Amino acid sequence: MSSAFYITTPIYYVNAKPHLGHTYTTIAADVACRFHRMKDEKTFFLTGTDEHGDKIVKAAESGGMEPKTYADRISALFRELWPEYGISHDRFIRTTDPDHIAVVKQILQKIYDAGDIYFSDYEGLYCFDCERFYTERELVEGKCPDHAKEPVPIRESNYFFKMSSYQQWLIDYIHENPDMIQPERYKNEVLGFLREPLDDLCISRPKTRLEWGITLPFDQNYVTYVWFDALINYISALGYPDGENFKTFWPHVRHIVAKDILKPHGIYWPIMLKSAGIDVYKHLFVHGYWNVDESKMSKSLGNVVDPIYLKNTYGSDAIRYFLMREMTFGLDSSFNEVALIQRINSDLANDLGNLFSRVLAMFHKYFKAIVPQWDPAENPYPEFDLKAAAESTIRDFSTSMDNFEFHKALASVWEYIGTMNKFVDTAAPWELAKQESARQRLAAVICSLLEGLRVVSGLIYPVMPETASTMQKHLGLDQQQPFYLMDEIGKWGVIPPGAELPKGVSLFPRMDPETIFAAPEDKKEKQSNVSAIMPEITMEDFASVDLRAATVISAERVPKTDKLLKLELDLGFERRTVVAGVAEFYTPEELAGKTVVVLANLKPAKLKGVQSQGMLLAGIDNENGSVAVLDRHLPPGTRLK
Ligand code: MSP
Repeated sequence: MSSAFYITTPIYYVNAKPHLGHTYTTIAADVACRFHRMKDEKTFFLTGTDEHGDKIVKAAESGGMEPKTYADRISALFRELWPEYGISHDRFIRTTDPDHIAVVKQILQKIYDAGDIYFSDYEGLYCFDCERFYTERELVEGKCPDHAKEPVPIRESNYFFKMSSYQQWLIDYIHENPDMIQPERYKNEVLGFLREPLDDLCISRPKTRLEWGITLPFDQNYVTYVWFDALINYISALGYPDGENFKTFWPHVRHIVAKDILKPHGIYWPIMLKSAGIDVYKHLFVHGYWNVDESKMSKSLGNVVDPIYLKNTYGSDAIRYFLMREMTFGLDSSFNEVALIQRINSDLANDLGNLFSRVLAMFHKYFKAIVPQWDPAENPYPEFDLKAAAESTIRDFSTSMDNFEFHKALASVWEYIGTMNKFVDTAAPWELAKQESARQRLAAVICSLLEGLRVVSGLIYPVMPETASTMQKHLGLDQQQPFYLMDEIGKWGVIPPGAELPKGVSLFPRMDPETIFAAPEDKKEKQSNVSAIMPEITMEDFASVDLRAATVISAERVPKTDKLLKLELDLGFERRTVVAGVAEFYTPEELAGKTVVVLANLKPAKLKGVQSQGMLLAGIDNENGSVAVLDRHLPPGTRLK
């Protein structure tokens, strides 16, 4: 074994169940980790959940639960999802784990003792959704840039972390480690933030306002800011300060995050480490967003794609492949199922699947399942040197994988698959098979194709571990690690002559979009696995939900979106504006005059600039949307219970 490789994902908030965005990051980390195992490195892969803070308290409250009970349930959804996608993490950390809490306190005390935390009176603008103070400079038109809400002025005494003292140090550190933040655009973004004076960071919340957090070791009346708690997971998980894993793996870490959390990772975290006297990490990889129709996929926008539905419909390896192939690491990508089906059919079923079944079928036909004698050193087709092409593919693949350019790594493997497909057509084994004198040549063609497939099976292993294993089984290789080691993959003539190989299989059946999209019932059944019934509530819990009958007076489209309708509703005692995401299913005229059901005591929210005072009850699946309408007359304003 050579060097140590430590990879982390963000720890995900437990205020919502996992969606495709979280799944992408975790798969990317898994792919990188599997690749480094192939390089025979010692690896550690960390993921987990971020469970403290106001966001979680609010989500728990709306589910009528204690924060810990709520966190247990949602954290379990993440933990149970990862095996479905073959995620091979070494630890799943929760910020409620006692060993993590102990380390957070230790670090806080260290930074406090170093004189980098001070107590001060503060009046500032606070965004409850971000759980942090904003400076005027950071606001966009007076609003929080993430939630487009005006922050609330709050005056309180708090503890502050002296980030400002480290500003120049961080700038120098980034220049001394030019590949610390990749891709380059994000390094520039961080350097851009650092061109403005860095404010000190408020790292406490008074318990009078928030109790769900880790108590400051030097003041029992405060809990620490959720980011100060969360970032420390990257070292508490390794058993900081004395654990063997900490000694082995820190600071050889590669953090992967999306661009939404660049600032805490690119600025707070290195400064926290520096102040605590801990080696500062050297690699942060930042990716873009999976969007749906131009908007970031996120729970708050209600456009999330369910990873379990995708796995049940298309299979884990196909989704892993699509996500890694389609997104250029660092840039945004748009998710849509049509593109997914196209890629499965062209890259997986056609290019790879057909090649595999074609070669194995010819092998069985011409050699009766027994690998013939052939001389791998002799190449009767110099213009198609599959061995040399494999070597250069392996080099390109390795470089791209080292740089987290997964799409490029896969593109080079598919280029090689393309070469093999052309080779089959040029060498035309079916013609050679007609001539007894071409027997040697036929053996060389088929066996070098088998070798080429073996190389492919090794290279796709980090992205498609199940497919790699199926291919290896059918190539007569046992499933042991050597066939996946980067140093071994390039060897030629590994499949032993005389071996009997099992018959081929179809690796990827073609997907028919019509069948997939025209089977809503079937699909719903698959989805129902995931949209499990929400946690049990009591009648008292339900009593806090105020549902009212309301008549739609008028409706109109919300500009610049295909999804939203703005409805004017009559609730009997008052009129209200409610925004509903049903524009794809209803014209405004269709809804006018209907008596609908409104969640009337929902906190108002702004959607695409329109203030919505409540929510319409409606059900939406991928093809259909239906608004709940009363089928008998009830006066508007009547409560439904
Ligand atoms: N709890 C913090 C992270 C603390 S790490 C010390 C947090 N949690 S989160 O649940 O909001 O997860 C954010 C991360 O989820 C992103 O950085 C990214 O890894 C992933 N994604 C969430 N939505 C995504 C997309 N739409 N597209 C791509 N990745 C997405 O922030």
